[in-house]
Amino acid sequence: MKLTTVLLIPALAANLTAQPPPGGGPPLTSLKSVPIPTPPGLDRYVRDTRALVVLGKAFFWDMQAGSDGKTACATCHFHAGADHRLQNQLAAPAASSATITPNQTLTPSDFPFRRLANPNDNRSAVLRDTRQIAGSAGIFHRSFFDIVPSLPAEQGADQPSTARSTLNGVQTRQVTARNSPSVINAVFNVRNFWDGRAKEIFTGPTSFGDSDPAWNVLAWRDGQLVKEQIRLENSSLASQAVGPALNEIEMSYLGRTWPKLAEKLLALQPLGRQAVAADDSVLGPYADPSGLGLAANYRTLIEAAFQPAYWQAPELLEANFAIYWGLSIQAYEATLVSNNSRVDQFLEGNRQALSALEQQGLRDFQNGGVQCTQCHQGAEFTAASVSNRTTRGFNPANPRDAGFFRTAVSPLADDPGLNALDPFGQPLFKAAQPNDTNGAFKSPGLRNVELTGPYFHNGGQATLEQVMDFYARNGDFPADGNLGPGIGRIRLSPQERNSIVAFMKALTDDRVRFQRAPFDHPALCVPTGHVEAAPGILATDTSDAQFVLSAIDRWAHIPAVGREGETVPLQTFDELLRGIGNDGSRAHHLTTPCVP
Ligand code: HEC
Ligand code: HEC
Repeated sequence: MKLTTVLLIPALAANLTAQPPPGGGPPLTSLKSVPIPTPPGLDRYVRDTRALVVLGKAFFWDMQAGSDGKTACATCHFHAGADHRLQNQLAAPAASSATITPNQTLTPSDFPFRRLANPNDNRSAVLRDTRQIAGSAGIFHRSFFDIVPSLPAEQGADQPSTARSTLNGVQTRQVTARNSPSVINAVFNVRNFWDGRAKEIFTGPTSFGDSDPAWNVLAWRDGQLVKEQIRLENSSLASQAVGPALNEIEMSYLGRTWPKLAEKLLALQPLGRQAVAADDSVLGPYADPSGLGLAANYRTLIEAAFQPAYWQAPELLEANFAIYWGLSIQAYEATLVSNNSRVDQFLEGNRQALSALEQQGLRDFQNGGVQCTQCHQGAEFTAASVSNRTTRGFNPANPRDAGFFRTAVSPLADDPGLNALDPFGQPLFKAAQPNDTNGAFKSPGLRNVELTGPYFHNGGQATLEQVMDFYARNGDFPADGNLGPGIGRIRLSPQERNSIVAFMKALTDDRVRFQRAPFDHPALCVPTGHVEAAPGILATDTSDAQFVLSAIDRWAHIPAVGREGETVPLQTFDELLRGIGNDGSRAHHLTTPCVP
């Protein structure tokens, strides 16, 4: 990446003299001072980056992309870039004997998942430990047969499901085994996913970078088709985006391929069944006058964004679809930068932007005893960011320098995090000390964290207060060396917990809170659990003779918003749990029905 120091705002200069926090890490600055990472050499593939963002936003929000014709990326990332649904969101760690009840609705008393006699002492008696995960509901377990020309829903067959997504013989949508992080500001991460498996190098249709050396691109050069190798840096989001599209839990029936997804989407109107606001900040100019979908088709959008060598011959559109998908979604997500929170305004010199308590929280957050800035550092509030790599003494073989830490959220046996192999047999991280990767997870950025509960990779904490209790007791599973360096000796007084929570809530950008541009979006129906004929008895969906085992979905409406956003703020996870805002005083309260 080109490292330019962007200091356009005079007030930012004051921060250059700021001292590094006593708790570690670089001085805190406004996020406006951090350059947005871009892939060098992108213009080999892309001829118009604005058209690329249009394509990426359409792909990201298009429910037709899922095999059932009803599942988009946005299905699990619709709410401040994350997901706060309550029903049918539980999974259990693959390796554990933990049981969950499919289709359960989460309640306040379910949190935290691990409950201790003394919440300040991680060695006190365990009153309850459900070992479950609050993930995201994706797609039914089905195998792929074929697409049906001009229809969003594909043909397939029910596949046997585990007990974790079957109730009285009826299948629920499967749930991911980790909590959905926000896509907002993810562009700053060197690598994405909790375990960093979306590599910073994008090599085409898989997430795993240089582990996948295949020549994955087809180009039209001098009148013939040639295979090329693609290798783009700073492209973890492209590596990430090609993952869910064919994943059989998230979006795809088992065995679907990129050319089949291409063939399907190329024949459909983009966002064909979803409302698009005429003043959508990106899609508005392309919105169909009917109010539904776009007036342009995917082929036109691809041709506008990409160099002709990559679509000129008829074979190319299907062959290169993963490249279009990855690079365009990455470009859209790179616009989802929330750098105007009150904390940013304060750090730019507006001393009125934070209350006295929030300012106290800002100081306490950086204080040596609480250690937050060891791991949540710099303007991105994570050591996993691209700019962090320029810190003096950065060691690429040390997972902590790369922003991965072992903080005892779950037992090592439940989820090894960074200590895993990719499908090509390569370790996710080549550490000098291999054991350093065990149970290590990417430190998440903390911006808009007020809106992105539940928290941690297992979604086991409902509120920021619960997260602070977790840190005050220095993690949940201290056994087996699960407390990596940086945790174990945190000291947090009740006053500090209170001020730091207030400070973290000031990290919300109002454009996110009110869904203003660039965080505006098309309408969406999200599945919110299944209909039960009687408690614990799922009703079967008889509407599609191909799939006789599926439960009936319940759908909630997420209305389209244009660039001006909504007048009411997004609901927090805790508010949804408590039913606060269902009267319309919050957005996304998930009680308005929807017909997908
Ligand atoms: C069924 C729900 C679901 C769908 C659909 C889904 N995601 Fe996610 N997403 C998740 C979960 C869960 C994770 C975390 C998984 C992990 O780390 O192992 C995640 C992680 C991510 C991240 C990483 C953020 C970070 O900080 O590490 C990004 C970016 C992202 N998703 C974008 C997308 C895109 C783009 C699509 C569509 C191509 C998509 N997601 C589809 C659930 C979903
Ligand atoms: C040793 C490194 C480390 C320290 C110290 C640390 N964190 Fe974290 N933090 C992490 C990691 C890693 C995660 C993700 C852990 C997981 O899910 O397994 C995390 C997660 C979080 C989350 C949840 C975010 C989300 O989106 O789920 C919050 C909030 C948070 N930390 C705040 C803090 C605060 C406040 C402090 C100081 C009191 C602090 N952290 C100290 C590494 C650290």
